[in-house]
Amino acid sequence: MLTGKHIIVGITGGIAAYKTATLVRLLVKAGAEVQVIMTPNAREFITPVTLSTLSGKPVISEFFTANTGQWNSHVDLGLWADAMVVAPATASTIAKMANGVADNMLVTTYLSAKAPVFVAPAMDLDMMRHPTTVRNIALLRSYGNHIIEPAEGELASHLVGKGRMEEPENICKVLDEFFSRRADLAGKRVLITAGPTRERIDPVRYISNFSSGKMGFALAEECASSGAQVTLVAGPVALATRHPAITRIDVESAQQMHDATMSQFPQADITILCAAVADYRVDCVAERKIKREHTDEPTLKLVKNPDIARATGQAKRNGQLTVGFALETDNEQANALEKLQRKNLDMIVLNSLRDKQAGFQVDTNRVTIITADGQRTEYPLKPKRDVAADIVNAIMQLMKQKS
Ligand code: C5P
Repeated sequence: MLTGKHIIVGITGGIAAYKTATLVRLLVKAGAEVQVIMTPNAREFITPVTLSTLSGKPVISEFFTANTGQWNSHVDLGLWADAMVVAPATASTIAKMANGVADNMLVTTYLSAKAPVFVAPAMDLDMMRHPTTVRNIALLRSYGNHIIEPAEGELASHLVGKGRMEEPENICKVLDEFFSRRADLAGKRVLITAGPTRERIDPVRYISNFSSGKMGFALAEECASSGAQVTLVAGPVALATRHPAITRIDVESAQQMHDATMSQFPQADITILCAAVADYRVDCVAERKIKREHTDEPTLKLVKNPDIARATGQAKRNGQLTVGFALETDNEQANALEKLQRKNLDMIVLNSLRDKQAGFQVDTNRVTIITADGQRTEYPLKPKRDVAADIVNAIMQLMKQKS
């Protein structure tokens, strides 16, 4: 999908600049035409010769090219580009972009760019979490730029945390998906719950389940790739979101997941309840760690958590679609159908715990999709990403039938 696309790769002065050579190579290999623009500081980290060789075009870093006296028009570059990606984006360049400073060729071109802009921050973890940087990234997002979140890991400073520039392969993938995304869900807002919830017992213990969040995250990526704006309400999981069209809200307990979901629900066209929500929580969470010496047979009093799927089903207005999941061990079809009706869902995705390769933790799933009007489709065992595509296709079909 990158064939023939005009892409400006902006490089700023951070150590991750060395990785951008690979990004340029990958984009060129994928058929894109790449124009590299470097800030003066970026040239200290990687030589322009490397980048002009890889891109097949002279690198631009000044308003005037000294030896030819040629003026580099930021306006023409802004019009030429189908996309602009700033990688790595330092705290300083992010601050300039957020505040309209135009004191070098890169940030000036950014101000002129009409194309979508992708920003891949890279910096030390303290700079990354400084309130100024947090605010500037939020500002960039609010202008419609796509932030490619940095990964966690060891940084050049040897500190460990969030701040590593996303790998070139993944940045290339984000761009490829951006151009290849089917516009089927364009303009739609999708709300997804994913992962387990944790119900605290005391400050060090909790009740939870084996959900990994993989299915919900795959659905979020799939919906975003199909053009939707996705809000992902995630319980505690060890997964990252990559797509810039996904806004993630992290929660811990069922009550928090309920509150976050219900606050987003009025704006959602499609809501997919994929989380494995704990049915019960501890009535009185101990403020201090419960000591073994106090009792040999402690009793936990449990109370019911809100049923988020049911709450959305009850609040649903015309035109809103809700999709639930059912993980059953017996009487699968009948139980799934009963759930679909009780929670006023439009569709339920049934997966069985009898299937070794389906359900919790694993990367594959085997599902049966049942709609409120009684249609039943069984799918073979597939990677969760492909299952997500099947579910999204089924949702789109249902939307078409209803419109
Ligand atoms: O009733 P059961 O938990 O089996 O229903 C599963 C479906 O309901 C899933 O879609 C799940 O995300 C949703 N659910 C929920 N809130 C709960 C319990 C389940 O949204 N408290």
